[in-house]
Amino acid sequence: MNTTLKRTLAYFKPYWKLILVSAICSSVVGGMDGAFAWLVEPVLKKIFAGKDTGIFLLVPIGIIILFVIRGVTRFTYDMTIKLAGQKAIQDIRNTLYDGTIHQDMAFFAKESTGELMSHMTNDITQMQEGTGQVICGLFRDLISALSLLGVVFYRNWELAIISFIVIPATAYPAQLIGKKIKNASGRSLNVMGGITSTLQETFSGIKVIKAFGLEQRTAERFRAINLDFYQQMRRYIKYESLAMPVTEVIISLGVAGVIYFGGSQVMSGRMTASEFFSFITAMVMMFNPVKKLQSSYNILQRSTGAAERVFRLMDQQRSIYDHPGALEVGRSSGSVEFRNVSFSYDKEPILQNISLTTRSNQMIALVGPSGGGKTTLVSLLPRFYDVTDGAIFIDGHDIRNISINSLVSQIALVDQETTLFHESIANNIRYGKPGASLDEVISAAKAAFAHDFIQQLPEGYDTNIGDRGVRLSGGQRQRICIARALLKNAPILILDEATSALDTESEQMVQQALDNLMVNRTTFVIAHRLSTVLHADMIIVLEKGRIVESGTHNDLLTNSGLYSRLHALQFSDRDAGEIANEP
Ligand SMILES: Nc1ncnc2c1ncn2[C@@H]1O[C@H](COP(=O)(O)OP(=O)(O)OP(=O)(O)O)[C@@H](O)[C@H]1O
Ligand SMILES: [Mg+2]
Repeated sequence: MNTTLKRTLAYFKPYWKLILVSAICSSVVGGMDGAFAWLVEPVLKKIFAGKDTGIFLLVPIGIIILFVIRGVTRFTYDMTIKLAGQKAIQDIRNTLYDGTIHQDMAFFAKESTGELMSHMTNDITQMQEGTGQVICGLFRDLISALSLLGVVFYRNWELAIISFIVIPATAYPAQLIGKKIKNASGRSLNVMGGITSTLQETFSGIKVIKAFGLEQRTAERFRAINLDFYQQMRRYIKYESLAMPVTEVIISLGVAGVIYFGGSQVMSGRMTASEFFSFITAMVMMFNPVKKLQSSYNILQRSTGAAERVFRLMDQQRSIYDHPGALEVGRSSGSVEFRNVSFSYDKEPILQNISLTTRSNQMIALVGPSGGGKTTLVSLLPRFYDVTDGAIFIDGHDIRNISINSLVSQIALVDQETTLFHESIANNIRYGKPGASLDEVISAAKAAFAHDFIQQLPEGYDTNIGDRGVRLSGGQRQRICIARALLKNAPILILDEATSALDTESEQMVQQALDNLMVNRTTFVIAHRLSTVLHADMIIVLEKGRIVESGTHNDLLTNSGLYSRLHALQFSDRDAGEIANEP
């Protein structure tokens, strides 16, 4: 058996009881097909033979009873196998989500969100349809076909052999078509991924599209992808529609042969008419399960393609994970050391030979030109990426030896991307400390100077905010993010342009909040506005991935290096300073 299928089926294993019930019921249903075809002979014989009113009455009653039993068993097997299928698919989806959400940042930088979404929705649906339908039908069709085959052989083995030649003959073209179907559906699902990612990108970037009047262009782009999808689907539809007729034509050859030879046997008196009818009934009834077995094969091919993509995603190796015996550390004192750290995303070195040491509760400012590597530097601390060379220590432990959970519990992060979730404001703040009481949430919001505006919202802390918090201003969003970080109360705080969306007045307010917040923790502050970093215990000037200067504000001013030049620009003429800071 093919490994993808085996792996998919492994997910069904925990639900073997449901499957067993289903198998038993479906054997009953399938077996009844055989029984029905077999009964044709004695019934016809009795009816033709004489005026036996007893059996004449029994037949309709028998039919009703037979179909009621069939209905009940059919319901049971359908229900149980579909439930088992849904449960298995639920497990697959959970496993996939779990694996994906734990992937490292490099993975997410590489994968498109839309395609990931497509794998988790379209591909898995396809798997579900495929495996569900196939397993569902397989038992029944197999048993039904086998029982009918039994009747056929019992009635007339010579004729049976003729029909037997035909059935394998249908297998080869069916297999050929099955392969085409798998390829075509694979391509169409890939294009579907493109559609999802275009949707995701355009709806989340709707503001830019509107502002630049790009509606028409994006609509054209979408139309092109959509057309591509149609074209891929067209191939798929062609092969899928071809499968059934090809099978039927081949089968009809067999039926023609059977009628010819069977008919002549009846005429020469070697077989009775009722036997022949029973035989024909079984043959005709066999049509259906055999056709279904073949279409199951095609569906299976299609779902295997989807399953391959799902498993490929599931098997993606992470480069960042807990090492065996990773330490669980308690609350850190906040002393951090970068020792000869170098880093590159790809080949190009982004950080080179960075060494810096902080004592507990210090404020470290990172300044310097855009693209210098400030964000990259702080993203090494929570292990969004691992250093390429050198090492980072927290309280003397190499962070690669600390469990990821206990590492991230040491760090709170506020950056320019004010990510909020489609939930109430209170719950958004609670992301900092799941299960925090409303009082804790409110005091964090107060400290972040967010309480006042939250209270003025129609539903206060229960106000639901849109995906990216579209109902709030940039500064308001940023203050909620600060409240979230405050609530986390971690010993190490990273503020990457955390006050950039605030006006001077609220910045001053938030600055006070941040000043209070920094008292008992080590803080890394990245800021273009140098006014925010004047009080830092140490200012690090990063340029092109290297530390070009470090010291206190006063030290650096007397140095008359890059910092003092930036400072002079910003304070003699603010605008010029801001411009000089841009790339
Ligand atoms: N995910 C990534 N993959 C590859 N290169 C990246 C990635 N993120 C950033 N870079 C590159 O790394 C360099 C440093 O970027 P970084 O974001 O650290 O700069 P920065 O000092 O924070 O700049 P800014 O002040 O504009 O925020 C840039 O040249 C950037 O192009
Ligand atoms: Mg940055």
